[in-house]
Amino acid sequence: MKKVILTGLRPTGNLHLGHYFGACQNYLKMQTEGYDFYLEIADVQALTDNFNNPEKVRKNVYEITKDLLSIGLDPDKVHIFIQSQIKEIAELTVFYSNLVTISRLQRNPTVKTELTQKKDLFGNKGESITYGFLGYPVSQAADITVFDGELVPVGDDQLPLLEQCREIVRKFNSIYGDTLKEPQQVLSNTTRVKGLDGNEKMGKSLGNAIYLIDDEATITKKIMSALTDKNKIKKDDPANPEVCMVYYYHKLVNSQENITKVCSECQKGSRGCVQCKKELIAAMNDFLHPFKEKRKYYDENPDLVKTILTTGTASAQIKATKQIKKIKQAMKIDY
Ligand code: TRP
Ligand code: SF4
Repeated sequence: MKKVILTGLRPTGNLHLGHYFGACQNYLKMQTEGYDFYLEIADVQALTDNFNNPEKVRKNVYEITKDLLSIGLDPDKVHIFIQSQIKEIAELTVFYSNLVTISRLQRNPTVKTELTQKKDLFGNKGESITYGFLGYPVSQAADITVFDGELVPVGDDQLPLLEQCREIVRKFNSIYGDTLKEPQQVLSNTTRVKGLDGNEKMGKSLGNAIYLIDDEATITKKIMSALTDKNKIKKDDPANPEVCMVYYYHKLVNSQENITKVCSECQKGSRGCVQCKKELIAAMNDFLHPFKEKRKYYDENPDLVKTILTTGTASAQIKATKQIKKIKQAMKIDY
C-alpha cells in the first residue's frame, strides 16, 4: 500500500515566492516519489476567518489551483480537491469535537497567534471569537485522518495543529479501539523566504511578498524598493551583500556564476544598487517565465481547471467514504 500524504492550503490569495520555495518545491519532489498524495484546497477553513467574504474564498479556490498547476503539480499524480465537497470531513469534525476540550483549543499556540492577528474580526480580547474558528484545529484533524493521512508536509507554524491532531487520534484509539494512524510532519529541506523588507517571513498580510503571477511592472516596482545595505550611500561604496535583500533574491533565482559575481562586485564597490536591482528584475522575470506561460494556458481553459478539481475531489471522496465507514464501525454508529 502506498503511504498517504495529505496537506492543505487556505484559498485566501495567490502563491508567492515564500510558498514556492517553502512548500511547493517539496510537493513537486514528493509527487514523483510514488505516494498517494492528497492536496486539499481548504475552503471551509478559509471561511472560519473569512465567513463574511465568501466571494474572496470562491475566487481563490480557482486562483490557487491554477497557481499550483502552473508550478508543475501534475493532477495525474496529486489529487487536488475542494474541502467543502467532502462531507465526511464535516461529519468527522463533529465526532472529534467530543474528544477535545475548549481550554486545550484556547491554549493551541497557532490559534493564539492567529487570534492576536485578527483583533478586527474577533474583537480586541477575542471575546467575539467564533465556535468555528476556535474549532478549526479539530476540523484539520478530520482533514488529515479522513484520508488515513500518515505524512503531512507543513511548515513549523503548523506543528501545534499536527500535535492537536495526534492527541485526538490517541484519544479516539484509546476509547474506540485502534483505528486511526498518528500523522507525522514531513520536514522539508526548503527555506523560509524573507520578505522584500528583510522581515524573516514573506506574507500577504505583511505586504512584502513577490507573487508568482506578478507582472513585470509590479516586479520592477517591488524590487526597486527592496531593502539593500543601508550603509551603501554612493554607487562605488563597498557593501555587505549578506544584509541586502536584492542579493538574497539573486541567490534564489540567479545562476551560481552570477551570484558569485554580484557578491564580489558588491564587496569591492564595483557595482551600483540600481544596476544590481535591474539584473535581479531580469533574472526574476526569467525565473517566472515558464510559470506565467502555463498560467496563461489555465486562464484560457477554465473548464479544464474545473475538471481537474472535480476529478481530484472524486478520488478524495473514494478514500473518505472507506475511512468514515471504518470510523463509524469503531464508534458503533454504523446502522
Ligand atoms: N492550516 C493550514 C494553513 O493554514 C492549511 C490546512 C488545512 C492543512 N488543512 C490541512 C495543512 C491539513 C495540513 C493538513 O496553511
Ligand atoms: Fe545589494 Fe547589489 Fe547594492 Fe550590493 S550592490 S547592496 S548586493 S543591491
